[in-house]
Amino acid sequence: MSGSSNPFDSGEAEAAAYDAWYDAPSGRSVLEREQRCVIPLLEGAARPWLDLGTGSGRFGAAAGAELGLDPALALLRIAARRIPSVVRGAAEALPFRAASLGAVLCVAAFEFLPDADCALREIARALRPGGRFVLGFFPRDSAWATFYEQEGRDPASLFHGARFCSLEEWQQRAVAAGLTPGPVRSTLFEAPGEPPSPRVVAGAEPGASFVATTLVKTGEDEGRHR
Ligand SMILES: C[S@@+](CC[C@H](N)C(=O)[O-])C[C@H]1O[C@@H](n2cnc3c(N)ncnc32)[C@H](O)[C@@H]1O
Repeated sequence: MSGSSNPFDSGEAEAAAYDAWYDAPSGRSVLEREQRCVIPLLEGAARPWLDLGTGSGRFGAAAGAELGLDPALALLRIAARRIPSVVRGAAEALPFRAASLGAVLCVAAFEFLPDADCALREIARALRPGGRFVLGFFPRDSAWATFYEQEGRDPASLFHGARFCSLEEWQQRAVAAGLTPGPVRSTLFEAPGEPPSPRVVAGAEPGASFVATTLVKTGEDEGRHR
């Protein structure tokens, strides 16, 4: 979608720089803790798993997702080296049949969606009954969300236009789309630039700048596999 309003949909050099951030010591530490936060919430979920807003595919690959989706072509080319099957597309119009996915993982992408409520309805449609949506995000008013909001005042920043929500807000919006809140995990207990705290904990803990919440597709035929 070149020419779109998605700031991540740019050139090869920008995509490589985005991906390389995770190889620097600070990025590696963030990646490792966010993965430890998110991946346990997927354990035991039916297959296949989609990494939605996969970017360069770091989370989907670590989780063992079979599928990745993103509108940003250059990032998706990097993801294709890590995830078995990738598709260019948008969360608001998922190219998957109803009740065909066992789990959807999404890390640090819901903040950037033009229509997050539409995306939640799409995820609820594509998940099979009993399937899980695991959403990793930066809670509004957390140290990192506040830092990114300030950075986003610069129109050239990737965070320009990013919208941050609290855990309660995301859960309420997911309930409206037909999903039921489940287990939560939390990490990133230091402010940006401070020495990293290794803590990754179960539950929603005050002071966390990264939270992952499970949102389950329930329904009258829950548990039946199509
Ligand atoms: C901060 S990056 C996160 C990428 C990856 N999940 C990670 O954590 O490294 C945000 C991603 O959201 C993607 N994105 C933006 N709009 C989207 C949409 N409508 N549907 C799906 N993904 C979208 C961007 O292209 C970008 O790859």
